Amino acid sequence: MLQPIKYSRGFLQIIDQLRLPLEVVYIDIVSVEDGYYAIKDMKVRGAPAIAIVAALSLAVEIWGKHFESTADVKDFVHNSLDTLVKARPTAVNIFRAASDIKRFTDSLYVNFLSVSDIVENVVAFIENLKEDDVKCNIAIGDHGAKHICDNVGLSELVVLTHCNTGSLATAGYGTALGVVRSLHKKKVLKHVVCTETRPFNQGSRLTAFELSHDNIDATLIVDSAVAFAMKQKNISAVVVGADRIAINGDTANKIGTYQIAILAKFFNIPFYVAAPTTSICRNAKDGQSILIEERNTEEITHFQGKRIAAEGVNCWNPAFDITPAELITGGIITEYGVFKPVDLNDEMNKLK
Ligand code: MRU
Repeated sequence: MLQPIKYSRGFLQIIDQLRLPLEVVYIDIVSVEDGYYAIKDMKVRGAPAIAIVAALSLAVEIWGKHFESTADVKDFVHNSLDTLVKARPTAVNIFRAASDIKRFTDSLYVNFLSVSDIVENVVAFIENLKEDDVKCNIAIGDHGAKHICDNVGLSELVVLTHCNTGSLATAGYGTALGVVRSLHKKKVLKHVVCTETRPFNQGSRLTAFELSHDNIDATLIVDSAVAFAMKQKNISAVVVGADRIAINGDTANKIGTYQIAILAKFFNIPFYVAAPTTSICRNAKDGQSILIEERNTEEITHFQGKRIAAEGVNCWNPAFDITPAELITGGIITEYGVFKPVDLNDEMNKLK
């Protein structure tokens, strides 16, 4: 099993995803600053993994650090999290993790604990976030696989996915790729079609790597081949991940997701979003309220440091787009089950 995050108390290493698939190199994360730059520079990416690595970078730094007082611990935790959430703006999971860690830390102060007890409790809380993410992903995978078997077909399934939503994008197993893994375990998956995912190539570099690693039959296509693949390759379902889901079901995910959803509608192929409920943002009433990260245009104009686009051209490089809820025809697959986007608000209220 691929282990993108190696963690034990006071120790954190992650696979440097910029070097995949050519080499698997682990780098040390010893501080919040290391965590912040690993996320900002995309050495780790994917909404859940960003949150987990951010939180673990805080855990490794406070473990063994000298604090003068309990108030210092609280200040350090709050300030560090305020920095970490600035690394990337669209994925909501890191914001959710930061507010949960702050709330938990603050709750410890009614008990007059010592510095070391507070640190111990905060570290244990963060460790649980990592464990919970893996459990959550396995549940997403299994709910998604069951829903697809019950509603789409029982064998020979061909799933198209976009970007990377696997072990590399989470604490393990993956969300959309978790559904793929669960379908593969059930022996009902014939094939996966994965998109290259320009300009950062998370599909060709990372998803293709994970699928080969797990011996799952897959075909890589360029992003512009999706319509023709839908026409020619008997695609049974599209399953993608999410960076932030508004409460009406509109979903921010990797740039290109929106056009795939439009094509799926045209070809009558069920389109699913797979994500933990921590990706659902109650403060976003619809997709318009989600801030979309715009990245350096060198990602488009250059390849491995060499210019490939004509000089003088303007570029626009949004990292994500918004798929409107009505295009998510299969449903939103969560750790609690598969919801229709229109029911999302009610389902979330039931879970409160
Ligand atoms: O820019 P990235 O690589 O962080 O974008 C990743 C995605 O868009 C994923 O689909 C999303 O974060 C879900 S990962 C389980």
